[in-house]
Amino acid sequence: MSVSLSHPVHATPLRAIRGRALKGRFRPPGDKSISHRAFIFGLLTCGETLVEGLLEGDDVLRTGEACKALGAAIERLGPGRWRIRGPGAGALATPRGTLDFGNAGTGSRLMMGVVGGHGITATFDGDASLRKRPMGRILDPLKLMGAQVLSQGDGGRCPIALRGVRDPAPILYRTPVASAQIKSAVLLAGLNARGMTSVVEAEASRDHTEKMLAHFGAEVKVTPDGEGRRIDLIGRPELKARPVVVPADPSSAAFPIVAALIVPGSDILVEGVMMNPLRTGLLSTLLDMGADIAVLGRRMEGGEEVADLRVRASALRGVDAPASRAPSMIDEYPILAVAAAFASGTTRMHGLHELRVKESDRLAAVAAGLSAAGVAHAIEGDDLIVEGAGSSRGGGLVATHMDHRIAMSFLVMGLASREPMAVDDVAMIATSFPEFRPAMERLGATFE
Ligand code: S3P
Repeated sequence: MSVSLSHPVHATPLRAIRGRALKGRFRPPGDKSISHRAFIFGLLTCGETLVEGLLEGDDVLRTGEACKALGAAIERLGPGRWRIRGPGAGALATPRGTLDFGNAGTGSRLMMGVVGGHGITATFDGDASLRKRPMGRILDPLKLMGAQVLSQGDGGRCPIALRGVRDPAPILYRTPVASAQIKSAVLLAGLNARGMTSVVEAEASRDHTEKMLAHFGAEVKVTPDGEGRRIDLIGRPELKARPVVVPADPSSAAFPIVAALIVPGSDILVEGVMMNPLRTGLLSTLLDMGADIAVLGRRMEGGEEVADLRVRASALRGVDAPASRAPSMIDEYPILAVAAAFASGTTRMHGLHELRVKESDRLAAVAAGLSAAGVAHAIEGDDLIVEGAGSSRGGGLVATHMDHRIAMSFLVMGLASREPMAVDDVAMIATSFPEFRPAMERLGATFE
């Protein structure tokens, strides 16, 4: 692979300053969830997988490195164009060194599923943020399937040495929280089980793994189950190499979208955004808030519906965001809180418990950022309540806690606040949206 991982030594602070209206068109980078999975399915498939539009962010590249360590040959053919030659699920290699996933929760957890179900042994580790994240939720079902945890850090966290099982037991697993990462780890392990592995989720989480399993030729059935879904996978399919086209990431699109809504006079076109209904909770919420967003040119791209979003500065109003919407906007609460600060009236976001175990404790980090900007807010149990005043004072320095989405959210806030807003470190933005700064600058944003 010829795109290098960033290894920042010193924190890089940045300030965002209120300036002119945002104008122009822009295509966000490839979807992070699908990009991780593209490398993983390429590894598990015998033959050549060609990927277009891959997100070349640090998190995804770490997954690519891990796939190489398990035997894949991976080559970059051009910007976003990659070729993976997989050994196939039956011929995975035991990696020589530790698999270092950096900041990447998704990459590490999905690869635990691969290792846990395929009779190889690997040690998983990452940066200080990843070392704080709970892994028991992934290891518990893998242990039921027969995998063994050889060693682990405090509280079942990374570094974790996992010995996979050659013949995993097919299980029926009910995920304890709505999490596509848990579901995916079980399904990826179940790929190698004789018989049917089933996952039942009380609320539907993003479905990229199920869709890609079907795309690569596995027999997978998804049926409604109450408010949620049941996924049945028949193990030991022969996966067939298929091309993957990665649509633009709605979670990255969220930042220019909210920036255009809150910077007066803005009018931008955000192109090719994935409209998978399990990922569009923020769009629905912004529309409920009165956002002027026109959904144009709906079309299919790589098995997903995409659209161009024309976003114009809007007078937003506060809303209630129900807990049932959380799985479809789980990564978007920090930027929704920024939109809420610029709305008039109260926004209540319900059921945010999972935010406490993301790249940072996002509930605490968002609250601290809102305090720095002088925005009235409260945390009540798992709910965040923001008192929108139609504008924000801004100012202050926001601690990002190695969390890319906290950094981008408060930089966006600074673009529309009376006083500039600074974040303490922008290095982590490279994990999901390496082009964030130049892309926003091309739209007219001012950073220094
Ligand atoms: C992801 C699932 C979500 C999300 C993460 C990506 C995935 O995590 O927050 O950024 O690609 O499966 P959870 O499954 O833990 O909610």
